Amino acid sequence: MKCIQCSNVLPWLVGMFLFTFSGIGQAQEVPLQGFVHKQSDENGYVWPTDSLVLQKLALWNEQKFGVLFHWGLYSVPGIVESWSICSEDVDWIPRDTVWNYEAYKKWYWGLKDVFNPVDFDPDQWAEVMNEAGMRYVIFTTKHHDGFCMYDTRETDFSIAHGAFKEHPKKDVARFVFEAFRKKNFMIGAYFSKPDWHSPYYWWPYYATPDRNVNYKIARHPERWEKFCQFTYNQIEELMQGYGDIDILWLDGGWVGSAKQDIHMDKIVEMARREQPGLIVVDRSMRGKHENYQTPEQGIPEKQLAFPWESCITLSNDWGWVPNAPYKSAGKVIALLTEVVAKGGCLLLGIGPTPQGMIEQPVVERLKRVGDWLRVNGEAIYNTVITPYYQEGNIWFTAAKDEKTLYAIYVLPEGENLPELLEWHINLPKGKMTLLADGRRVTYRIEGDKVMVSLPKGCPEEPFVLKFAID
Ligand code: GLC
Repeated sequence: MKCIQCSNVLPWLVGMFLFTFSGIGQAQEVPLQGFVHKQSDENGYVWPTDSLVLQKLALWNEQKFGVLFHWGLYSVPGIVESWSICSEDVDWIPRDTVWNYEAYKKWYWGLKDVFNPVDFDPDQWAEVMNEAGMRYVIFTTKHHDGFCMYDTRETDFSIAHGAFKEHPKKDVARFVFEAFRKKNFMIGAYFSKPDWHSPYYWWPYYATPDRNVNYKIARHPERWEKFCQFTYNQIEELMQGYGDIDILWLDGGWVGSAKQDIHMDKIVEMARREQPGLIVVDRSMRGKHENYQTPEQGIPEKQLAFPWESCITLSNDWGWVPNAPYKSAGKVIALLTEVVAKGGCLLLGIGPTPQGMIEQPVVERLKRVGDWLRVNGEAIYNTVITPYYQEGNIWFTAAKDEKTLYAIYVLPEGENLPELLEWHINLPKGKMTLLADGRRVTYRIEGDKVMVSLPKGCPEEPFVLKFAID
């Protein structure tokens, strides 16, 4: 076990083993999984009363497209984020089957001394995401495994105290946020409420049978209070010392319920004192601290009358894994279009490599998304929803005047563009143009139906028609 922990190579081997073992090596697209966190219904949403929060929410909703980075110890071997150290027997937590649980955990914690992302280049990350047309970023400052991606004073279990400790950018989150601020992104900190490394959450005195706190809070209230204070202090560090933060994205919805109460009112009050107008996303908790809802790996069936965001991975995993089966650019454009037509934002999950870069297959796909958005972004950014928002492959969005409509035709994979397009209800008045080049498009109206002839020579990709309605 000893040489295993010092070895630079073994994690990679183990990673490779896990990756063949879990069967995710084939470069093929996998259908979206169902929701992991179901979005709440309208009754579960509580509108903020703070006008600064409302303003920021409105601004955030205009951005439409963001990136969620998962970067941490799990990136080193390229395995599921954090969850492999959680002793729950479910198929989405693949773990080495040879080692026993304690040996496995020990190896995992030891990755701290191996994780040395010497190519860490947050400017490249920001450049790629900016070119992709993204406008906000969420970064994992700490995931469930408790490994901090910033230089916290509260524990040594951080990137700033591991193999990377001599590097000038060891306070990683700071440099991620700075790089994206330079590109005018809205900035979000992902923070896991559960912390499986903290002795106040997983007390080494007991076994750790599942994701929950492993002692009875009622019997050890002082231990639990230490955990609450630790969590408060860490969030305070992030809110005080890392520049302007727009979103605090709190994951681990099983903490914060009546059974594991971490005094969220106190945390949010402090966080907003430091960051006025801060959007707080206490995921899946419902109520006043979930300023927007976050359906995961899926899109709600219909438009929702409150702020929401679908977080969906570009591959099948949140973090980097070897040979990931990335979704195509066309698929990302289709997801973004559907999300926006239903009133949400798309948060695309991407895992930087263990060396600290965005890998080439991601760069290439995102570049194509960005090329499309540079031409068609008017139909996406700053738009609002319109009541009749879909017919077949056509999705509708509206400019703020609610009279200018965009019909976005999403080309299904492997299909060619149709020559004639038909839809109902959203009947155009006056001229209709192809948003890409302003060319005029001819159409005919018959009763409640419009028939549009596409100009010749359109590229085989999604396109947008712009027109006015009454
Ligand atoms: C789920 C996963 C968590 C991941 C998050 C991202 O909550 O459990 O590991 O970070 O989704 O949305």
